[in-house]
Amino acid sequence: MCVLLKCLQARYRAKVFYTHAGCTLVALNPFQPVPDLYSLDVMKEYHCAPQPQESKPHIFIVAEEAYRNVQGQVEPVNQSLVVSGESGAGKTWTSRCLMKYYATVAASSSLMKSQDTVERIEKRVLDSNPIMEAFGNACTLRNSNSSRFGKYIQLQLNRSQLLVGASVQTYLLEKTRVAGQPVNERNFHIFYQAKDCFDETVEAMVHLGINAEKQGHIFRILAGLLQLGNVIFCSAMDESQPCDLEEKSKDFMHRCASLLCVPVEELQTCLRVRTLRAGKQSALFKPCSLADCSVRRDCLAKVIYAQLFEWLVTFINDSICADNSTWCNFIGLLDVYGFECFQFNNLEQLCINYANEKLQQHFVAHYLKAQQEEYVSEGLEWSFVKYQDNQGCLDLIEGIPTGVFSLLNEECLLNRASDAKQFRVRLEKELSDNGSMSWDKFSKQPHFTVAHYAGKVSYQIEGMMEKNKDPVPPELIHLLQKSENPLLHQLFADRDPVGQGTRGLRQVVTVVSKFKNSLENLMKILHSTTPHYTRCIKPNTDCRPLTFKKEEVIMQLEACGIVETIHISACSLKKNSVAVSLSDRVYLPPAAVRSWLVRRAVRRWHRAAIVLQRSWRKWRVSRSPAGFSLGHPHTKWGSIKLHYQRSPLLYADLHPDHKRDGVTGLNQILLEST
Ligand SMILES: Nc1ncnc2c1ncn2[C@@H]1O[C@H](COP(=O)(O)OP(=O)(O)O)[C@@H](O)[C@H]1O
Ligand SMILES: [Mg+2]
Repeated sequence: MCVLLKCLQARYRAKVFYTHAGCTLVALNPFQPVPDLYSLDVMKEYHCAPQPQESKPHIFIVAEEAYRNVQGQVEPVNQSLVVSGESGAGKTWTSRCLMKYYATVAASSSLMKSQDTVERIEKRVLDSNPIMEAFGNACTLRNSNSSRFGKYIQLQLNRSQLLVGASVQTYLLEKTRVAGQPVNERNFHIFYQAKDCFDETVEAMVHLGINAEKQGHIFRILAGLLQLGNVIFCSAMDESQPCDLEEKSKDFMHRCASLLCVPVEELQTCLRVRTLRAGKQSALFKPCSLADCSVRRDCLAKVIYAQLFEWLVTFINDSICADNSTWCNFIGLLDVYGFECFQFNNLEQLCINYANEKLQQHFVAHYLKAQQEEYVSEGLEWSFVKYQDNQGCLDLIEGIPTGVFSLLNEECLLNRASDAKQFRVRLEKELSDNGSMSWDKFSKQPHFTVAHYAGKVSYQIEGMMEKNKDPVPPELIHLLQKSENPLLHQLFADRDPVGQGTRGLRQVVTVVSKFKNSLENLMKILHSTTPHYTRCIKPNTDCRPLTFKKEEVIMQLEACGIVETIHISACSLKKNSVAVSLSDRVYLPPAAVRSWLVRRAVRRWHRAAIVLQRSWRKWRVSRSPAGFSLGHPHTKWGSIKLHYQRSPLLYADLHPDHKRDGVTGLNQILLEST
């Protein structure tokens, strides 16, 4: 760990931002533009290099490697580039770079006579970015352009590996932001862009086919939401009557109704009065409490915005997705929110952290499998380090019937007001024997604490059930279906206001069910593709250029799980040497490295690796009952050990003894806990 850290720090100081660490590319955020790091010439250089992996580490190596895998039709031919990291670490930037790379090196339109920008598919694919970022990104305390949704973009390639289209899948938009933001954070960019100049977004909309008329509808809806946000209720004199509007709010209410193209009286009524159905025909009307009125107002804003975002994504997909017959392989880019742990965590964080657990499991399984295949093919014995297998934590969250998600859904299906304390008791009863779950006995708030691979997170139970049900009062849907704004009307036209199932049963599709489902689909795709991992690191929390804070980097290296997961010791170059600190690659054991090379038919060695290869020939390979050790005439070599616990993988139960007699080192890996 210490070695990796020193290496990264030295490189950062030398303005070198990319480093290979095993099968992962580590990308440090420079927090300032780096001239010519991503220029066309640099793209060409990596694309045309006979051995790109011998060039300086760069995100384009990952891009090119994936591209050549497709060209070489190495199974699995489809590729996934997984970009992870905490907020502000550079995931979205990296995804954009990757998209630009493919839009350049795999451009299909350059072959065509027409260079008409509206027609060019690469341009349209790239233009999906500013639109999605305008509607899905916001300024937060941690990143002034923070993506408030996850996305997986599939770049579709034809038989000649040219980019012919793309599709986008999004995950869990943080729609609560529309109705309110934490102190010093902002709403989605589009609301501010609508006020100021926003040429780029509008231009991108035009390219994608969102014409002036549709833009008009979109901006009227957005303006309507801004007006709605200013509406404030106050208690009525007569408690049996619906709440009043604050004097200033009356205008806002009128403007909102006019922009959303709905009758103002009906808008006012459905925000302040609950309709209780009594039989098929009759209905009872009950004034909402003051708090309920605000909840309804926020709910209206959220449901409209979320639906608008979904419509945009569908529109973008219709515009950029290639016909099925024209493409045969894809390269997928995954840009998802990293692990989150705030002072107060709720359902959103639980979902996000669950997604990260899934990705971590995929990473570990893939990495270890690659190593084992190599060991087996060489007939080597090896031993295992204890690594934190996260299946227990995943069982805790997704287990059926007694995982947190299942219990939460069960609670939400009960037709009664949810009680946080009661739910906590239920969780404790069902899950107290799961080692990943704990409770702080002294905490007054009902909560549960999950030991994630990246650290412990306490989740508040209060509000969790409501968030999971995410109810929308049917009156609001009825109202929106009456809208004369054609787009708004279209957004809700097919929606069943009461969520009636086929036999009149209420069908509640909860937030966690939907999320789990979409994540399962994503995992299926990841499992069927060749993955490439890029880990973005935020060298300081204040987004200051070229500032490297060791403690913060350590925390992120730990949170990405490499440290606990893979602990391989062998020996080689001395720790802390300058040559080591600046080397391009933080090494894996030769066997594992070669496994990667074999699997991808790509040689990823660099300067130091060549040295390593030369030494390799000289090494005495001795097998002993005590394990596999590498001998060298002059140096004392330790055993290679790759340890793990509870893995579904083959050979997981082998635990040969291990001698720890050498310098632990870097030649092979470095990802040791300090
Ligand atoms: N490679 C890079 N070069 C220059 N600036 C970068 C780079 N990566 C990230 N940044 C800066 O960091 C900011 C946050 O990056 P972003 O990709 O939005 O983070 P994330 O998506 O991980 O939350 C960007 O807006 C940009 O200013
Ligand atoms: Mg982002």
